[in-house]
Amino acid sequence: MSWGASAWPGTRTGGPGQDGSVLTVPIVALEEASFAYPNQSGQALCQVEFALGPGDKIGVIGDNGSGKTSLLLALVGLRPLAAGRLIHGGREVRKPGQYHALRRDVGLVFQNCDDQLFSPTVIEDVAFGPLNVGLSLDKALAIARETLDVLHIGHLEGCLTHTLSGGQKRIVSLATALAMKPKALLLDEPTNDLDRKTRAMVQEFLLHSDLALVLVSHDHSLVRAVTTSVVCMEGGRVLSSQPTMAAL
Ligand SMILES: Nc1ncnc2c1ncn2[C@@H]1O[C@H](COP(=O)(O)OP(=O)(O)OP(=O)(O)O)[C@@H](O)[C@H]1O
Ligand SMILES: [Mg+2]
Repeated sequence: MSWGASAWPGTRTGGPGQDGSVLTVPIVALEEASFAYPNQSGQALCQVEFALGPGDKIGVIGDNGSGKTSLLLALVGLRPLAAGRLIHGGREVRKPGQYHALRRDVGLVFQNCDDQLFSPTVIEDVAFGPLNVGLSLDKALAIARETLDVLHIGHLEGCLTHTLSGGQKRIVSLATALAMKPKALLLDEPTNDLDRKTRAMVQEFLLHSDLALVLVSHDHSLVRAVTTSVVCMEGGRVLSSQPTMAAL
């Protein structure tokens, strides 16, 4: 297999290698992707190439407003592209059913927890995804409880979501994504609001998880600890993609 010396995870888009070998198909990828928000003068994403393969651990860094959140939203199809392509499992995503399948494989944890949590109680929020894909109530509740336990927040099960602290909401948001048992996790500033102990727990969890990961974070120590490559964004563009050891 050969990606070429400069093609680190994050920028490759799949296809056959130069030596003819078959390369791993990315779970999700963007090709030449651009879009702008309504009334935005510039572009949120500008001709972005990005690919996440099985087991990839990609950090995304960049200044405020550089397009990191926009990249994650585009990767799960929450922002339609004005140009370029969104690819899931090697196929362009166009139809509603394809978006549904993409979002089962790729879980997004939003930067703003209030975009993620909408049920009255924690257990309802975490069980919502499994229930929504057709699991029985018993099975969905079992998965939700198991997920809360993995993240050491079983004690929050019966809490009213709107009464949680910022840090508690952040971990419950992660639980809602994990309960879907995705192939890949896209995390947008997952350690914001967390105390040291909880941040360390999240770092340990990510370090030992075999899920593909895109980690958007200003917490460069976390990015250094859990990713193998880093994409740097500026003005909606991918400026560089390098091994984490070289980037940070
Ligand atoms: N809903 C929106 N409507 C209009 N413009 C938006 C909207 N969301 C983001 N933008 C603009 O798009 C650009 C990229 O924003 P984005 O949220 O992707 O940046 P970011 O890198 O995630 O920043 P941060 O580090 O502050 O989270 C910014 O110029 C921002 O002002
Ligand atoms: Mg952001």
